[in-house]
Amino acid sequence: MKMKNSIKSRRDDTLLTVALQPTAIIKIENLQRTFEVGDETVHALKGISFEVNKGEFISIMGTSGSGKSTLLNILGCLDRPTVGEYRIDDISVKDLSEDELSTIRNRKIGFVFQNYSLLPRTSALEQVELPLLYNNTVSDKQRRERAEQALEQVGLKDRMKHTPNQMSGGQQQRTAIARALAGDPVMLLADEATGNLDTRTSYEIMCLFQELHDKGKSIVFVTHEPDIAMFTERTILLNDGNIVKDGKVETQSARQMLEAIMKQRSA
Ligand SMILES: Nc1ncnc2c1ncn2[C@@H]1O[C@H](COP(=O)(O)OP(=O)(O)OP(=O)(O)O)[C@@H](O)[C@H]1O
Ligand SMILES: [Mg+2]
Repeated sequence: MKMKNSIKSRRDDTLLTVALQPTAIIKIENLQRTFEVGDETVHALKGISFEVNKGEFISIMGTSGSGKSTLLNILGCLDRPTVGEYRIDDISVKDLSEDELSTIRNRKIGFVFQNYSLLPRTSALEQVELPLLYNNTVSDKQRRERAEQALEQVGLKDRMKHTPNQMSGGQQQRTAIARALAGDPVMLLADEATGNLDTRTSYEIMCLFQELHDKGKSIVFVTHEPDIAMFTERTILLNDGNIVKDGKVETQSARQMLEAIMKQRSA
């Protein structure tokens, strides 16, 4: 009887430990990416390892050419590593066909780029609906509803019919964020998403990312600006294809910073 109890309590302990452990949404191990250019080999990533837990907000920093975009492209299944393991949501990318990879990209990942990558002469609503067209589990009605919801979430309820040339840079980036959100991805990946924006608009965009993070989205955000990285929770610093630092950030509130610069300007 006693023994039975001890087995039971050990099982409970194990269950508890499993439940308390944060779930890794990304796991990479000894990731390497080389490019052949003529007869030269460029080692863009030289064997890096880290995990991203569900709900984390991470910045990837490093000087130009350190491998940030190369890493983000692999995380976003736009590219594959030359060597090493990449698992997203416990699926090993190595074993996937091109079709499976594009399904993962479409269902699990939302991308935001520096140049917004919006189509010209296309309304915000249509831009946001577009990736959902490739998802045959979503009906026409659901697609419209989801796109409207995503645009509302980024504060563009009254700009749904506007085309990119009828919007400010910040509004175009919000449209791109809505497009990334519409498919309800497990992870948002951003490459210099505030790179084209002035300070105030950058902070507004960072408010939005912090709100999304508060709602539980996992976010990996590439930036070379320390004042943008301070809005995330953890920074991975790359140098010449290696991780040279990976640590917690003393997170600042983008909302508070925004209010502070507005006050300064009105004074
Ligand atoms: N398709 C490619 N073919 C050859 N070399 C490449 C390719 N893509 C990247 N590289 C090289 O890999 C290295 C890392 O490039 P990457 O674009 O990842 O840098 P980055 O950190 O994003 O820089 P930036 O801050 O300027 O955007 C660079 O030396 C680059 O020249
Ligand atoms: Mg880059």
